[in-house]
Amino acid sequence: PKTAIIVVAAGSGTRLGASAPKAFVGIDERSVLRHALDGVFAASPAQVIVVAPAGHEGDAESELRAAAGDRVDLGRVVVGGRTRQESVAAGLGALWGDITTVLVHDAARALTPPEQIDAVAAAVTATTGVIPALPVVNTLKRVSGDDVVEAVDRAELVAAQTPQGFPRDLLESAYAAALAAGGEYTDDAAVFAAAGHPVTHIAGSPLAFKITLTADLDRARQLVAQPQQ
Ligand code: C5P
Repeated sequence: PKTAIIVVAAGSGTRLGASAPKAFVGIDERSVLRHALDGVFAASPAQVIVVAPAGHEGDAESELRAAAGDRVDLGRVVVGGRTRQESVAAGLGALWGDITTVLVHDAARALTPPEQIDAVAAAVTATTGVIPALPVVNTLKRVSGDDVVEAVDRAELVAAQTPQGFPRDLLESAYAAALAAGGEYTDDAAVFAAAGHPVTHIAGSPLAFKITLTADLDRARQLVAQPQQ
């Protein structure tokens, strides 16, 4: 394949309050990482790099094997870093072959529909990055300390999801530049845009929410038990 998906799963998940890293917390009999990888392998064939927490490479390898089935040769596990940015950089360093498009996906968005993964990959061009995003439903305010400064027009805002897709060469150089500059970015599209490249958005899915808090895990458990809801 010409496309690679880097699944970042090296977070500690401290906000979830579980003893294991978030990727290995069970939704049902399958972990967060397993669900994420099931989605990735249900999408069009791609190289899959799983970025695991240090000390959990073997666990990640088992989840990869279980999800990949006879496509296990398309997968590889590497160890992540202290920040998400470092974990993505580790994933980029593990790519092999003539990959031209790279998708970066949060394992924590475990129930992301495979169609969303394919739609992002299809929308990437040689010069443009792509993110899936949802409209913002809440009323948003800009604040300064205790003061509400102004209302923000939510029509101009979207909530970013993953996978985020990019041309490989430009993403690699953008990450190298971000590393050299020492900048902190909250997602890959911000790294890509900081290097001067355009990013477009396509429709995301409510199912691609990120499992961060216990309430998110509860929601994921309900959705897996009763998918129609
Ligand atoms: O912490 P947060 O939920 O925002 O992390 C988003 C994704 O990035 C998760 O899938 C997490 O495992 C991953 N991550 C990582 N390495 C880190 C921190 C987060 O791979 N150091």
